[in-house]
Amino acid sequence: MFDQIRLHAEMSDEELANSHKRWLKELHENKNNFSYWYPRLNNLHKWFKIPSTGIFHVPDALYDDFFLEKPGAFERVESWVEKEMIPLLKRQFHDGSTAFLKNGCYSGKFDFNDCCKVCSIDTKTLTEHILRIEQDALAFDTMGDLEFIVREYINPVEGTPEIYNGMPLRCELRAFVDFDSKEYLYDVFYWDKDYCYDHLPEEDRETFLAAYDELYNEYLHIRDYVRNCVLDCIYDIDIEGRWSIDILYQNGELYFIDAAVANRSAYWDPYKIPKYQDVNYRQHSVIPDNYDDLKFLPEIAKEIENCSGIRVFVGDFRLTDENCHDGLGVEDELFIDTMLKVSGKFKDVPMIVTSVGKGTVSKIRLIDGMLSPNVE
Ligand SMILES: Nc1ncnc2c1ncn2[C@@H]1O[C@H](COP(=O)(O)OP(=O)(O)O)[C@@H](O)[C@H]1O
Ligand SMILES: [Mg+2]
Repeated sequence: MFDQIRLHAEMSDEELANSHKRWLKELHENKNNFSYWYPRLNNLHKWFKIPSTGIFHVPDALYDDFFLEKPGAFERVESWVEKEMIPLLKRQFHDGSTAFLKNGCYSGKFDFNDCCKVCSIDTKTLTEHILRIEQDALAFDTMGDLEFIVREYINPVEGTPEIYNGMPLRCELRAFVDFDSKEYLYDVFYWDKDYCYDHLPEEDRETFLAAYDELYNEYLHIRDYVRNCVLDCIYDIDIEGRWSIDILYQNGELYFIDAAVANRSAYWDPYKIPKYQDVNYRQHSVIPDNYDDLKFLPEIAKEIENCSGIRVFVGDFRLTDENCHDGLGVEDELFIDTMLKVSGKFKDVPMIVTSVGKGTVSKIRLIDGMLSPNVE
């Protein structure tokens, strides 16, 4: 972990090369990659429409070129698009048809027209969109950079409102599914007002509010049906663990559009799983900004004597990350380790860490009552 955050300037050329190799390996092995989960969907056409899809693997050597730092980078990307993508795409798409483009994990939907909506299958347009997606993916640290996915475009019905510079705003449902226990954990309305509204660009807010009730009612209308469909096909999806799957609904049709590991997905919250909802907890939010100041620990330790679990919230609550230190900032890890060391009382208490990216520890919840053993 400290290796990752050492300044590049301090590393030798060999260390840099090794670190780069490790990063490429991580990119390849990421389970959120489209190329990981998509081929594991079997026979789903009975329940869902699935846009026809082409997957293009990017050569490792091209990775750096996406960031246009070296001379000739643009031309090398352009040449790859021309040779590897265009010939196949010309067979799949007729002239003038629109395609949906994303990398292995990220579409750039927040700038839809310039990223994932491709109105002309030609080298120049595709190269520009690919570079834009890769640069945004780097900025948001989403990974997925070593593959590109080109899909049949799901055309909106007439009158569909748009947000995010061209994205048709349609009903979408996110379901959380446990493929080990074959359980449908819970689902959410993808365009939840509390979650989305503040993050919307100013110019989209009116459109969003005007469409909200109708989309939410559609979600309520399809929920049970989607749940039944997912349960029906759960053995046809050959993946392990807990995942989110995204279903787009339009005009009576359900489209299976996306999937990701649950704890890497917005709206993941193990406490939404019905069987955990009877857990009571008290909130403790006296976390100082200064991690050297451990004065508050005895106070928390006193409370912890009487509880059966701790939940630590990190960051701004947008994405959740259950019970692992993955994705936490170094300071958060130090904080959590210190907490564990300072009080032996914490030893037998299950702790769940909920985080977003590189946030800071912001809240601790003390859980009263027994936790289900599955909550870790
Ligand atoms: N094939 C498609 N055609 C048209 N719009 C799509 C298609 N697939 C997804 N979308 C829209 O684009 C958004 C982003 O697509 P998605 O594949 O979920 O990428 P991301 O992983 O960046 O969220 C979706 O929420 C949906 O509204
Ligand atoms: Mg998505």
